[in-house]
Amino acid sequence: MNRVELKKVKSLKGEITPPPDKSISHRAVMFASIAEGKSIVRNFLWAEDPINTMNAMRMLGVEIEQPSAISHQPSAIVIHGQGLHGLREPFDVINCGNSGTTMRLISGILAGNPFFTVLTGDDSLKQRPMARVINPLQEMGADIFARNNDKYPPIAIKGGGVKGITCKMPIASAQVKSCLILAGLYADGTTIITEPQKSRDHTERMLKAMGADIEVDGLTIKVRGQRSEVRGQELNPLDITIPADFSSAAFFIVAALMVPDSEVLIKGVGINPTRTGLLDVIKDMGGNLRIENIRDVSGEPVADIYCRTASSLKAVKIGADIMPSLIDEFPILCVLAAQADGISEIRGAEELRVKESDRIKVMAEGLRRIGVEVEELPDGMVIHGTTHLKGATIESHGDHRVAMAFSIAGLLSEDRITIKDTACIDTSFPEFFNYIERLID
Ligand code: S3P
Repeated sequence: MNRVELKKVKSLKGEITPPPDKSISHRAVMFASIAEGKSIVRNFLWAEDPINTMNAMRMLGVEIEQPSAISHQPSAIVIHGQGLHGLREPFDVINCGNSGTTMRLISGILAGNPFFTVLTGDDSLKQRPMARVINPLQEMGADIFARNNDKYPPIAIKGGGVKGITCKMPIASAQVKSCLILAGLYADGTTIITEPQKSRDHTERMLKAMGADIEVDGLTIKVRGQRSEVRGQELNPLDITIPADFSSAAFFIVAALMVPDSEVLIKGVGINPTRTGLLDVIKDMGGNLRIENIRDVSGEPVADIYCRTASSLKAVKIGADIMPSLIDEFPILCVLAAQADGISEIRGAEELRVKESDRIKVMAEGLRRIGVEVEELPDGMVIHGTTHLKGATIESHGDHRVAMAFSIAGLLSEDRITIKDTACIDTSFPEFFNYIERLID
């Protein structure tokens, strides 16, 4: 469980490199597992969620060598890919823990494999909607059953013999899109997926680089599969370096903008445009950021982000169009809006209700406790900017991003803010509080 208490700090100063990208870490391990031959993944995120993916792939028969065996590269892992058709039926139920990405993406791989698997997770994951992947995978021909009329985990899958479908996705979701792309690799024929807005595209980039037959045209993705019973073209192995996670960097970008007299350089951060909606919002609010040293690292754009305290911040109005590109930044954006001049409105965010917690409800409840006037809407929140944050005890509801967002709010409060249940931060950013400590001047 754990609890942490935070209080106003004078300023934040220094340089940090946030932890490796969680989305890319999941994908690198999964895709390398179904490639043919040995992949090297450098700068893997050692946090609970991607470790759950690693354990799942091991249960499916993949050999993965850890750092102790490769001591000259502390966080590099070596994955001995089994090829598209080389995975094995697991001996036991696979537990995905808190990780929606693990469960949804692996479902796509399993839909292409002719053996039986059961996927489960913790109490939060068992309440997250899975029909969004189950229904299209069933349409492709996989046998899948799940709790409550095929809606919630545990999920039982027996795949194989899938065929391509045309799918118009009702929601922008990189997890659903990636699941269908992966199933599409195994399918007979072409799978055509169209999203309503562009969600993160790490899957498309990585699989294309591995030689998959994927074509992206705006919001539509075409995947040409291979007949599952024929050994067609395999995926080439990866040699990849994972950039720092923009979603982890976001907490420190916002902290540096809000804490007086701060100056922080955040290095090596992935700035894939499908992830950086927060930068556009900060610009609209009048924040001080400089994107420096833009380069390419393993097919992803990376930069250093120089952040200084904003002299003033304006309120913003944001809607559904930008939401997918800042979907995981909602909690910290709420804290930022609470420090802006005026009334901010965040709409088009109904997906936030089915994340690791109901993030709209949980953020509204926490913000009220620290003295911010908010109005909860079905699809977002109205937030009245205020300068004074009150001391309070906040429930994280087991949601890592909620716990981190309120910890940053704590750095601004004259009175103590206590965050209950901070252990959940280990799912994505185990060193989070050490990073804060290092920056406090
Ligand atoms: C993720 C996609 C997003 C995001 C999640 C990670 C991914 O979820 O919120 O933290 O790695 O594909 P959705 O696809 O449900 O929007």
